[in-house]
Amino acid sequence: MRQRRNLEILSDSEIEKMRNAGREAAGLLAELGRRVEPGVTTGELDDYAVEWAEERGVEHAPHEYGDPPFPRSICTSVNEVVCHGIPKDDQTLEAGDLVSIDVTPIIDGFHGDTCATFFVGEPSDEARRLVEVTAEALRRGMKQVRAGKRIGDIGAAIQNYVEAEDMSVVRDFIGHGIGRKFHAAPQVPHFGKFNTGMRMRPGMCFTIEPMVNAGNYPTHVLSDEWTAVTQDNSLSAQFEHTIVVTRDGVDVMTLTDGQDPFSESPAGVISLDDS
Ligand code: MF3
Ligand code: CO
Ligand code: CO
Repeated sequence: MRQRRNLEILSDSEIEKMRNAGREAAGLLAELGRRVEPGVTTGELDDYAVEWAEERGVEHAPHEYGDPPFPRSICTSVNEVVCHGIPKDDQTLEAGDLVSIDVTPIIDGFHGDTCATFFVGEPSDEARRLVEVTAEALRRGMKQVRAGKRIGDIGAAIQNYVEAEDMSVVRDFIGHGIGRKFHAAPQVPHFGKFNTGMRMRPGMCFTIEPMVNAGNYPTHVLSDEWTAVTQDNSLSAQFEHTIVVTRDGVDVMTLTDGQDPFSESPAGVISLDDS
């Protein structure tokens, strides 16, 4: 890996390792999505992720990450929780809830970071629209990726679309470079202006992970120092892929075999229809 200012530019063989990590992460996320139903606790979802990692002899990057150390292995963010929700053994999912599940296993030294929002039972019309807009926001961001375009193009496309739908883009949490490191350069905001920011180069690897609120964008972190919630208590959703820039577009790492990142149904919605 060539490294400049903490930027991850991956070689072809490193990209294949990222693709493997991404496929494993996507497989785990899909398995977790199948387990989402009324009565399941977020702690049980985390327990499954821990077993999954033990079977494979791999680690979850979030476990003991940061300060204070993140206490569990995945993030589970319910309803007004924007991101970094901590799984809890006494937090039972109820029909009508939304749950965003974010996983980052480390496979052979590389990070696969992906998130989707799932419906618990039947969603309200508002929740369904929020999730559809958030999934489309990620697709629109990914369509901006190509060598020579700029990082600001991604945020501009996402912000313009989301605000036209009368929802808001979270400012306090953004996408990030990723590879051997969990969080590296570049920073990838989901808002901004076209033709600004760093130019994308082939082999650049980063996440796009828009968080969209049904209300306003300000967030607030709870006293556990991790859980971020909407200030106005409105619902929030998130989708995330880990991607690599190519000469003529985007190469999405966090896919299960045959998954189309541009299809109309995001992972979370597919698993609802399957169940
Ligand atoms: N997976 C999150 C991201 O997309 C980061 C979670 S850090 C944790 O960047 F410590 F909260 F798990
Ligand atoms: Co991320
Ligand atoms: Co993530």
